[in-house]
Order: sequence, then structure tokens, then C-alpha cells
Amino acid sequence: ASTLGAAAAQSGRYFGTAIAAGKLGDSAYTTIANREFNMVTAENEMKIDATEPNRGQFNFTNGDRVYNWAVQNGKRVRGHTLAWHNQQPGWMQSLSGSSLRQAMIDHINGVVGHYKGKIYAWDVVNEAFADGNSGGRRDSNLQRTGNDWIEVAFRTARAADPAAKLCYNDYNIDNWSWAKTQGVYNMVRDFKSRGVPIDCVGLQSHFNGNSPYNSNYRTTIQSFAALGVDVQITELDIQGGSATTYANVVNDCLAVSRCAGITVWGVRDTDSWLGSGASALLFDGNGNKKAAYTSVLNALNGG
Ligand code: G3I
Repeated sequence: ASTLGAAAAQSGRYFGTAIAAGKLGDSAYTTIANREFNMVTAENEMKIDATEPNRGQFNFTNGDRVYNWAVQNGKRVRGHTLAWHNQQPGWMQSLSGSSLRQAMIDHINGVVGHYKGKIYAWDVVNEAFADGNSGGRRDSNLQRTGNDWIEVAFRTARAADPAAKLCYNDYNIDNWSWAKTQGVYNMVRDFKSRGVPIDCVGLQSHFNGNSPYNSNYRTTIQSFAALGVDVQITELDIQGGSATTYANVVNDCLAVSRCAGITVWGVRDTDSWLGSGASALLFDGNGNKKAAYTSVLNALNGG
């Protein structure tokens, strides 16, 4: 196959990208995005600050722009993200305790309800674990509402849209030997054992000098999958853009049947949250395919 999406589809997987609503008027951007990818994540437009700027007043203008572009072009959509310590609107940042807990529940109901039946998978909870050696939760206003906030978020999302897969999504959980990875693994195992509705784990997979790709990545994917959840690589980018590392990531996903697909976090290097100097994506700023692109395509095509 000659595009990333079609090549991934040969094994029943998808290949996606993050899309920014503000770039949908850029035809160089949309031409590549439409040709190469068959899954879309809104880079910012379905987040809490974008969708509920004032408490109880939802705004889906830009989220719907991304959603409609995707679906009109035959792509599926991952929803990102419902409960997160970051990109909270000011009104939510100032809440705590039971009123924050209720606001989280109301937010999930409002957003998941709006997109009911339309989303392949939701990143229900994003980045709730701490970096470093603790293996524990990150401190946040949501965490301070009680340790059960994550499972409440998942139960709320399941009730609001039983058709969507529900994911826990985080960064620095790619390396199997890291405490953060083990902390998330233990949470997912606990959720599965107690019947908390979780269907997938999102490995963001932002690789850089401080958190490089490690060959135990395949063990991480296999270990989560063995708990009975899908694994989705949700925000892949590799600082420096190593073609070899990109191929390793793809081959590790292809080696695990429950690794459902891969999303890169942007189209061209100039679209990356890291800036174009990081050279972290598959297309350069002029829209040319990089060596990493060819390496990913070849891997998806089986060698
Ligand atoms: O849209 C405003 C613009 O009006 C304003 O003039 C400008 C001034 O700073 O800011 C613009 O908003 C920025 C937005 O990106 C859109 O470009 C925000 O400041 C900026 O904080 C925001 O960054 C996003 C970041 O999440 C915020 O946490 C990145 O685009 C987005 O790629 C990044 O994505 C996250 C995932 O959601 C979660 N995992 C990590 C990943 C990378 O940080």
C-alpha cells in the first residue's frame, strides 16, 4: 500500500494524526492529512477549556470542525480528552472537592453526550500519574477530590456512550522498567479485576533524550494487552526523527495483535508542538516525505 492509512489497514490497524482546526484552511496540510491518515485526534479542540469555557455552557464549534472534516473524508475520530489537570478552564481550576467532582462528571456527560455514537475511542483520563520513581498519582485538583476520581470518570463515560472505547492515556509509560509504567499497569489490572470499564491504554510515546525509545517497548505493549485492553499509540513523535526508531515503534505495535493503531502528533514538522527544529514528525515543513516516513510505510507493509 502507498499511504500510511492503507498500509496499516492491511493488518486491521489504523494510522492517525492530530489535526488542528486552525489549519483546515491550509490546503498543503489537508492534502497530506487526507491522503495519508485514517484516524484523527483533535489536537486541542475537544479539551476541557475548549468545550466548556464557562460552567454548563458547552462550545463544540472547533471540535465539530475537526470531527466533520475527519468524517467527511472517511476517517474515524479519537476523542481527546475528558479529565485532565491541564487545559482546564479558569472556572474549573478554581473548584475543589465535591463541586469539582460534580463538574468533572457534568463535563464528561456533556462532551461524550454531544459525540455519542461517533467516537472510536475517548481518552477519558489523561496524564494522571506522576513522573519519577513513586509510581503513584500526580497531585492535582482532580486527584485531591479522592483517589476514585479516575474510575468515576470511566463509569460516567461508559454510561454516556456505551459504544466508545474508553482509554487511559499518558506519557512516559512506554518504558516497561519505569515506575510510572508500573503504576499505570497496576491501576489497569485493578480496574479489570473490579469491573471498572476500561478498554484501552494510550501510550502517548513522545520520545526524546530524557525519555528515549527503549527496546522493552514491545514488552510494555504486550503486558498491557495481556490485561485484556487494547493498546493505542496515541501521540507519537520522536525528537530528531530517527527512521530506525520510527520503524522499531511500528514493528513493536505490529507484533501485538491488540495494538490497534498508531497516531502521530501532527502532520509536518512545522505543525509539531515541539517546533520544527525537533524534526519529530514524518513530513518536513514543505510537506515532503522524510526518511522516517518511508521507514514507517515499509514497516507497515511488512518489511
Ligand atoms: O490558540 C491560542 C492562541 O489564540 C494564542 O494566541 C496562543 C498564545 O500562546 O495560544 C494558543 O493556544 C495554544 C494552543 O496550543 C494552540 O496552539 C496554547 O497556548 C498551548 O498551550 C497549546 O499547546 C497544546 C498543549 O497540548 C497544551 O497542553 C499543544 O498544541 C498540543 O499539541 C499539546 O498536546 C498534548 C496532548 O494534549 C497531551 N499529551 C501531551 C501533548 C503535547 O504537549
